[in-house]
Amino acid sequence: MQLIDGKAVAAQMKAEMAEEVKQIVAAGGKVPHLAAVLVGHDGGSETYVANKVRTCGELGFKSSLIRYEEDVTEEELLACVDRLNKDADVDGFIVQLPLPKHISAQKIIEAIDFHKDVDGFHPINVGRMSIGLPCFVSATPAGIVELFRRYNIPTRGKHCVVLGRSNIVGKPMAMLMMQKTEPGDCTVTVCHSRSENLREMCLSADIIIVALGVPEFLKGDMVKDGVVVIDVGTTRLPSSTTKSGFKLTGDVKFDEVAPKCSYITPVPGGVGPMTIVSLMHNTLLAATHAIYP
Ligand code: GUN
Repeated sequence: MQLIDGKAVAAQMKAEMAEEVKQIVAAGGKVPHLAAVLVGHDGGSETYVANKVRTCGELGFKSSLIRYEEDVTEEELLACVDRLNKDADVDGFIVQLPLPKHISAQKIIEAIDFHKDVDGFHPINVGRMSIGLPCFVSATPAGIVELFRRYNIPTRGKHCVVLGRSNIVGKPMAMLMMQKTEPGDCTVTVCHSRSENLREMCLSADIIIVALGVPEFLKGDMVKDGVVVIDVGTTRLPSSTTKSGFKLTGDVKFDEVAPKCSYITPVPGGVGPMTIVSLMHNTLLAATHAIYP
């Protein structure tokens, strides 16, 4: 069993990107600029956005954080998106989800100029990804593909089971794994909360990508020997033994599943660090007009 060290790969990618930014700036180019919009004070969102801003600093990017209270109106948020769309200094921006119930996340996402949609959530980017055109790919799936690439994990012809059908992870992940590329070229099955034969599907899988948000869902008796397991789960469970008062828990019962795996990602230190790095990579691609010239 080999542990996939997302933290190490992320550190390597950060070093590569920091070097690229140095060269851009030395050549008189523009410092990449990521803006983040945060509504309210959700603990998870606060942490994620703080990490994104901190990582911008580490790589030599400029970052802007725009905050609103929970009672911001949809109109105010749409006006903010419009300003960011028009701000020539901002290369890419994100609106952190979830948003309060009185605001339509879909409406906000569709208002974002797809050229600046470094989250890859806009229907134009999603559509382009699904037919294999250059686009911004959402960060978590892009990070997972990068792990397959950097660990040289064979995917061609393999049966990949994706557990979860969210717009952010499950659906794009399935699309990428079936793409005519390597990593890719998988036979993909998507299972979800309504799937009846989920255990049988998992038992026939060469690769399982779990993105359900159900702590320790995937058990040892649900996987075959030699399987590759990617754990996207990051549920914050209360804990009395950690300083922060919570423990990040994955969707995989690690002690049961890991001994059967050829490769597995830990939580924390697997997919998580790759997600932020992928967002930074998308921002760099936006700043250098590498996807949309
Ligand atoms: N909430 C959880 N994950 C994400 C993400 O990747 N982007 C944004 N904008 N919000 C999120």
